[in-house]
Amino acid sequence: MKYAVITGASQGIGKAVAERFLEERYSVAVCARQRDRLAIVVNQWREQYEDADIIWLNADISTEKGVTDFYSLIKMSFPQVDILVNNAGLYKSGLIANEPEHQLERMLQTNLMGPYRLTRALLPMMVDHHSGHIFNICSIASQKPMKGIASYSISKYALLGFSDNLREELREQNIKVTSVVPGATWSASWQGSGVDPERILEARDISQMIWAASNLSPQASTDTIVLRPVKGDM
Ligand SMILES: NC(=O)c1ccc[n+]([C@@H]2O[C@H](COP(=O)([O-])OP(=O)(O)OC[C@H]3O[C@@H](n4cnc5c(N)ncnc54)[C@H](OP(=O)(O)O)[C@@H]3O)[C@@H](O)[C@H]2O)c1
Repeated sequence: MKYAVITGASQGIGKAVAERFLEERYSVAVCARQRDRLAIVVNQWREQYEDADIIWLNADISTEKGVTDFYSLIKMSFPQVDILVNNAGLYKSGLIANEPEHQLERMLQTNLMGPYRLTRALLPMMVDHHSGHIFNICSIASQKPMKGIASYSISKYALLGFSDNLREELREQNIKVTSVVPGATWSASWQGSGVDPERILEARDISQMIWAASNLSPQASTDTIVLRPVKGDM
């Protein structure tokens, strides 16, 4: 049996990633803040994927308590963690000059501190098994500044920095770290934006690449996966 942990799995990229691992008969642990929406998704999965082993919790990974609660459930239920996908993220637009007070802090709590704390909590389980693969869902905005979403971009630069440093630290322990760098990807958060869903990536594009990267030979590491719409960034 193999075990995957995915944060923010009630819609969008996280949901597609969880489904990809469920298709491959992994046991999955998922979280999101809104209990009802996650419960509906988990119930659909239990109908769709027979015998699926799913543990779930409404947990907010931007808080220490949310991470601790989610980690405690995983530790109690899974003997090991093969895959960790730090996906949950917060996106807010705004200019540095006049965005609401604490906007950057809020995004850092979700986009950087959530992955940092959950990874630190789960790492001993991976180290004990001398294996594991951590995927951090960054963004094209991790690699280039984007006017109008500066604090989001700053928080995603920080996540990419975390991810790249973590990889160096964990090489000797045989634990892989992949930074996933997607461009615009269709999810519920794009609804009402006026953007044609066929102009941008599908969530499944991301999940397929994560699945592929998780299936290479034990000695192969995919450091960074960059995906963007064929017609360019939005
Ligand atoms: N879509 C894009 O164009 C795009 C492009 C590049 C990178 N990304 C990154 O990809 C990731 C997923 O994006 P998406 O568009 O699929 O997002 P989405 O459609 O908004 O879904 C986000 C998921 O994360 C959960 N979530 C949000 N904050 C959370 C928190 N603090 N704790 C736990 N769960 C939380 C949400 O559920 P609740 O609201 O119930 O918590 C939901 O399940 C994000 O990190 C995002 O920055 C997205």
